[in-house]
Amino acid sequence: MVVQTETVADGVLLVRLNRPDARNALNMELRTRLAEVFLALADDPAVRCVVVTGSPKVFAAGADIKEMAESGAIEMMGRRILRLWKPLADCPKPVIAAVNGVALGGGCELAMHADIIVAGEGARFGQPEVKVGIMPGGGATQRLVRAVGVYRAMRMMLTGEPVTAAEALSMGLVSEVVADDTVLDRALEMARAIAAMPPLAVQQIKETVYAGLDGSLAGGLLLERKAFEILFASADQKEGMRAFIEKRSPTFEGK
Ligand code: HXC
Repeated sequence: MVVQTETVADGVLLVRLNRPDARNALNMELRTRLAEVFLALADDPAVRCVVVTGSPKVFAAGADIKEMAESGAIEMMGRRILRLWKPLADCPKPVIAAVNGVALGGGCELAMHADIIVAGEGARFGQPEVKVGIMPGGGATQRLVRAVGVYRAMRMMLTGEPVTAAEALSMGLVSEVVADDTVLDRALEMARAIAAMPPLAVQQIKETVYAGLDGSLAGGLLLERKAFEILFASADQKEGMRAFIEKRSPTFEGK
């Protein structure tokens, strides 16, 4: 299977890209499978947090160049790629990317579909599309700019040169850098912690942050206030606050 899934802990789904011979290049088969996995997990109450990873040497080398090399514009249009990215972009559950090795082109864009990026010290992030005569097509012209600012994003996209994990951290392109052999463990540790949080609150945080990102401050703050107030309708809010007062651990049920 080019995409493998495994429930690794209570509420934590691990999604692993598995095309080692092609450096996890995102061909149509892999992307279709990834989209199916994300569509299914969105509706699965047993999944509370998702970790997406590649292999120890490579996260993903981008779109499959061999599958595009001889394609025409109309054929590319016919692939309707957005329909494959959308389930990832719209995922209501928190997603953590655990990145070892290179995350290039569509691979970097895939990582940027996550909410948290944990990278190994040896990881490299880049948008090298310009070197093969194209440009980013999986969201980098928008998401990378929002993450790191125009000038750093432009340098990456116009030169095609990758940045190191340390640079990515200082730019704000990753959340955390750890030793290469601890990346997945760290991502799973974080995922387990998030999976134990009240799912409704987690979902509202994610939805409010992205909904507010492109709007006005006033609109974003209004959304935040509404989401904040709505959470007081949840049993988990009562449980969380009562548990704090009673000095015990809360149990959250997503209600
Ligand atoms: C198809 C790829 C590939 C890719 C690697 N391979 N990347 N096949 N598409 N993106 C294949 C190679 O052809 C080779 O196949 C095998 O994987 C091993 O690759 P090597 O280059 O020999 O390995 P290595 O020296 O370890 O270098 C790894 C690498 C390099 C740094 C990832 O392969 C590389 O730079 N790849 C291209 C990266 C890139 O340009 N990405 C942007 C793609 S465009 P054989 O058959 O020879 O063993 C893009 C557009 C996004 O992403 C649009 C939205 C999704």
